[in-house]
Amino acid sequence: MTKVVFLGVSSDVPKIAELARTRARAIEVLLPGDSDAAQAEVAVCWSPPPGALARYPRLRLIHAIAAGVDNILCDPELPTLPLCRVVAPDLTVAMTEFITWGVLYYHRDLDRAVANQRNRIWRRTAPAAASSCRVGIMGVGRLGAHVAAELLRMGFNVRGWSRQPKTVDGMESFHGEAQFDDFLGGTDILVCLLPLTEQTRGILNRTTLSALPPGAALIHVGRGGHLVSADVQAMLDEGHLRGAILDVFEKEPLPADSPFWSSPNVIVTPHIAAAASYDSVLEQIEENIRRLQQGEPLLNLVDRGNGY
Ligand SMILES: NC(=O)c1ccc[n+]([C@@H]2O[C@H](COP(=O)([O-])OP(=O)(O)OC[C@H]3O[C@@H](n4cnc5c(N)ncnc54)[C@H](OP(=O)(O)O)[C@@H]3O)[C@@H](O)[C@H]2O)c1
Repeated sequence: MTKVVFLGVSSDVPKIAELARTRARAIEVLLPGDSDAAQAEVAVCWSPPPGALARYPRLRLIHAIAAGVDNILCDPELPTLPLCRVVAPDLTVAMTEFITWGVLYYHRDLDRAVANQRNRIWRRTAPAAASSCRVGIMGVGRLGAHVAAELLRMGFNVRGWSRQPKTVDGMESFHGEAQFDDFLGGTDILVCLLPLTEQTRGILNRTTLSALPPGAALIHVGRGGHLVSADVQAMLDEGHLRGAILDVFEKEPLPADSPFWSSPNVIVTPHIAAAASYDSVLEQIEENIRRLQQGEPLLNLVDRGNGY
């Protein structure tokens, strides 16, 4: 049995620990207060308190319970150990559904229909062809590439921006800072699916948003740290942005005094775009523990240098 300590602030961590206790025969579940927690070889976590992981001298693997690992990499005392994240089909499907909904919301003018309903206005709009709508996806990784393929299948004009060029059949690929403005300039609906790193923090700012054509919409499902909230609100107030669907925020829960709550062109969702089921998270942890013990390559290893 591998001793695994579960730690972090999310309520999901104890739920996965409970599932592991009942189902995972090769895992001995430990919590930070347990007498033999210091013997743990593996830590499963979300937002562990800074310095917490350094207190486990026998650790060989740190496993996230989610796709993003910014909440772990920000620990200044993080031990130099393999760090794995979650890549799961149910997570990918959920993200694809959420973004498809957001794209259709703007493409089919539902934001305008909702606004008109508030004022009892009956105004019909003709549906435009999906091919006339340019969706720009920032981050063409495990999630972004799947979203792109699905939107292409529906006929949307899809462009992707990443660090390295990408090949997704039918998608126009842009990469690096040099091509960022070209990417933005031809984007009607901007989707942010980036990981939060030193390079991407604050990337949804006035300069970026100004490079979009007037009337563009934003769907933000990356991380709150990407968002310069005051800039997004200003671009909405100025009418440069048509609307924004915001799922993630610097501070979560979103504080009650945030202007986003009452901004007429904003949809606030409480970080619900996508999550892997506890079953699939645990399956992946079990598989990586098996691989660790057999000396096999780990799945979904994070590149610590890149930060994702
Ligand atoms: N809201 C939610 O519920 C929710 C749920 C799950 C995930 N997420 C967010 O989604 C993010 C993406 O997940 P994923 O699994 O698709 O990650 P991933 O597979 O690691 O893909 C990340 C993509 O971002 C690109 N990228 C990274 N830094 C960049 C930079 N400086 N400039 C341009 N492109 C850059 C990468 O480019 P290269 O491929 O060229 O390296 C890659 O295409 C997560 O990190 C998390 O923040 C949110």
